Amino acid sequence: MKRVVFNQKGGVGKSTITCNLAAIAAARGTRSGKGSRTLVVDLDPQANSTRYLLGAGADGLETTVTEFFDQMLNFKLRPKATEDFIHATPFANLFIMPADAALEELQGKLESRYKIYKLKEALDALDFDQIWIDTPPALHFYTRSALIAADRCLIPFDCDEFARRALYTLLDNVAEIRADHNAALVVEGIVVNQFQSRATLPQQVVQELRDEGLPVLEPFLSASVKIKESHQQAKPMIHLDPRHKLTGEFERLYENLTTEPRSGRKKRSA
Ligand SMILES: Nc1ncnc2c1ncn2[C@@H]1O[C@H](COP(=O)(O)OP(=O)(O)OP(=O)(O)O)[C@@H](O)[C@H]1O
Ligand SMILES: [Mg+2]
Repeated sequence: MKRVVFNQKGGVGKSTITCNLAAIAAARGTRSGKGSRTLVVDLDPQANSTRYLLGAGADGLETTVTEFFDQMLNFKLRPKATEDFIHATPFANLFIMPADAALEELQGKLESRYKIYKLKEALDALDFDQIWIDTPPALHFYTRSALIAADRCLIPFDCDEFARRALYTLLDNVAEIRADHNAALVVEGIVVNQFQSRATLPQQVVQELRDEGLPVLEPFLSASVKIKESHQQAKPMIHLDPRHKLTGEFERLYENLTTEPRSGRKKRSA
C-alpha cells in the first residue's frame, strides 16, 4: 500500500501526519500487532519529515532523494539502486528516503524531461509493506509524481474556511491526475487536524464538508503543544508519549484506514 499525504496549502500537518502514521505502521502495523516494514518518502525540499525521523542524522546525508532524481537526468554507467537512497531510522521497521534543499533546483528540469512516472516505477519495485509519501505545499512535479505513484491519498485539513474552499480545487486536481495518469488512486479521506472541539467554527466547517458528501475521517486530531516537543526530539508521538491523547487519536485514525495487501514485489507471509 502506497499513500500520499497531500494538500497544496502549507502548514496543515502533512509532515506531522505522514511521520506519525508511518511510525504507528512500523511499530504495530498489522492486526496481530506486528510491525509493518514501512518507508517514508520525503519529497519536500524543506525536509521536515527527514528531520523529524532522523534528527541530527539529517545533517550531511550523502544519498538523498535529490540524487535519486538527478540520476534520471544525468545518465550514469552504474546508477545507484533505489535501495541505496533508503536510510534506516532509529525506529524498528521504519525507513526513510530523505530529502534536502537541493531538491528544489531539480524540479524544473525533471518537469520538462517527462520523468513523471519514474517515482512510481521505483517504488513499485521496492519490498515494503507500506510506503508513505510526504509532499511539498504545491502542485508541481514532485506532488504529481507522488499522486501518480500512490494507491491512496490522505488530505490533511486545518478547519480554516479558506482551506475549505481550496479543497474543491485540490480534489479537482486529484481527479485530473486520476483521469489522466492513475485510475487506481483513491481519496481515502480528509484528516481533520488541530481540531479545537470547544470552538464552534471548526465544527461548522467540518459539518459543511460532511454535508457536501466529502469523506471526513475520524477521529479528528487535537491541537497539542506536545507535537512541537515531538518534532524537537525527533520522536513520533507513539515513541515520545504512547499514552498521550493525540497518540491515541493517531492510532485510531490509523486503525480506521483500510489495510490492504502489501506493496512491493515480494509477497511474504505477515
Ligand atoms: N495536531 C497538532 N497540534 C499542534 N500543532 C500541530 C499539529 N499538527 C501540526 N502542528 C504544527 O503545525 C505546523 C505545521 O505542521 P507540518 O509541518 O506537519 O505541516 P505541513 O503541512 O507538512 O507543512 P508544509 O506545507 O510547510 O510542509 C508545525 O509547526 C507543527 O508542529
Ligand atoms: Mg511538510
